[in-house]
Amino acid sequence: MQESGLASSMNSTQETNRTHGAHTLRADVESFYHLSHGGHTGKACQGTACFAARHFNPGRWAEAMQNDPRVYCLGECFAGPAKGQTKPRPPVRVSSREGIVLGRLAGGRVRALDAYRQQGGYAALAAALKNTTEAVLATVDKSGLRGRGGAGFPTGRKWRAVASQPPGQKYVIANADEGDAGAYIDRYLMEDDPHALIEGMILAGFAVGASKGYIYVRAEYPAADAILRAALDEARAAGWLGARVGGTEFSFELEVYSGHGSYVCGEETSLLRSIEGNRPEVMARPPYPTERGLFGRPTLLNNVETLFNIPWIVTHGGEAYAALGFSKSRGTKALSLNSLFNRPGLYEVEFGVTVRHIVEELGGGLRGGGTLKGVIIGGPIIGVIPLHLLDTPLGFEELAAIGAGVGHGGVVAFDEHTSIPELVEHVFSFGAYESCGKCTPCRGGSGRVKEIFANAVAGDATKGDLQECRDLVTAMKLTSLCGHGTGLARFAESILRHYPKEIEPCFK
Ligand SMILES: Cc1cc2nc3c(=O)[nH]c(=O)nc-3n(C[C@H](O)[C@H](O)[C@H](O)COP(=O)(O)O)c2cc1C
Ligand code: SF4
Repeated sequence: MQESGLASSMNSTQETNRTHGAHTLRADVESFYHLSHGGHTGKACQGTACFAARHFNPGRWAEAMQNDPRVYCLGECFAGPAKGQTKPRPPVRVSSREGIVLGRLAGGRVRALDAYRQQGGYAALAAALKNTTEAVLATVDKSGLRGRGGAGFPTGRKWRAVASQPPGQKYVIANADEGDAGAYIDRYLMEDDPHALIEGMILAGFAVGASKGYIYVRAEYPAADAILRAALDEARAAGWLGARVGGTEFSFELEVYSGHGSYVCGEETSLLRSIEGNRPEVMARPPYPTERGLFGRPTLLNNVETLFNIPWIVTHGGEAYAALGFSKSRGTKALSLNSLFNRPGLYEVEFGVTVRHIVEELGGGLRGGGTLKGVIIGGPIIGVIPLHLLDTPLGFEELAAIGAGVGHGGVVAFDEHTSIPELVEHVFSFGAYESCGKCTPCRGGSGRVKEIFANAVAGDATKGDLQECRDLVTAMKLTSLCGHGTGLARFAESILRHYPKEIEPCFK
């Protein structure tokens, strides 16, 4: 009874939100989103990567600042300050022993099913379907794969948490909301190699016992949205989706859900509420989505890049994957370098390379002879890496130990043109604009810190204001409900710790 109710509620949500820009959201829900009426096409971007590159084109940046609604990250950070989706594809380079995530892209696009199959596509799924679900779960466990969406949670453990729930309706969701300014990894994975995501999701559905999946694509990625829909049609026609996948007893259906423009919808509980058609405020956990997720059912939610790793792992074995990387961060990571580098673009590296290697060897230093001032990886709601910590290796624990993180893997360098107080004002302006408003420290604190730093930039702030900022940041760190508020606090703490000489003189 309950199942059929859920199914009909799911179907009506599917119908009402099927197309990009469909204006069928409930009024109280629609008011949450920034881009429910479209509005970003051809607009200039004011994300952090473009902020750091604004001196290359001040006119375009001024244009971006006039946008209402604001446009925060178009996934074109390699060409910042960016406008529209008209740029050529960014360079793709594999700098690891295995090109697990970007290997096919480095050779060109593999959009069509035939092209993907010629490169071994869907062989992992065909093999897995002849084996047991436990075999897939054990392989993912052994790989040591951790989520690439930011938190680095062990993927095998998450899959087992869903698989161990009682049989019944379960869901698999790919988080393709990639809103971190500076990150354009998932965008190009989906646009240029969509079947790898689809195969990874079908394998996930098989392993955890799910029969339905969604790919939640952000509004700012219309090309990825359309390409994925076409790829799903191809996969369905080839028998990889629908009833009796690959001629087996396993059935799995998959569809694209188009977002409406909200950074916080990348947070997992917010994303689930968004698909349900509810106002997507963040929910307290527990219960976790693995137990009570979409429409109250057990749900596996993984980042796009996480799922991209799965076909390779199933084909080559968990041990082969775990042999790459270092420490507790196994395998490879895709990185996207912003336009301040001499060689911006997409890179695949093994965990363990240093931040200096990424900046100097891969990125080739800064464009136009700029002087590096710091790097933000996986931001902007994450700690900044100052120059004296560039030898820190890329690893979940290693970067967390210096107050930074792997995040989503977007790498934004900033140079002498970026004033640190202006950077803080920019990041908190973004934070306040995107706060879901569910908890007070983030809702009130982000706006107030932004206001104080705007005053500081204008030369109108006191030492008392700086102390107020410190207190607000502590409150946000300790009491925010989700990573948006705590991430903003981590960003601010790192700035206050590493750049006091630029901050303190602004407060008289
Ligand atoms: C404010 C906020 C935004 C987030 N945005 C994304 C996102 O765009 N993509 C993503 O994969 N994860 C994002 N996350 C993390 C997700 O909540 C979740 O941890 C992740 O998708 C789980 O997948 P994984 O285990 O494969 O990393 C965000 C988290 C927060 C707090
Ligand atoms: S920290 Fe911010 S985004 Fe997260 S629940 Fe609280 S108000 Fe919402």
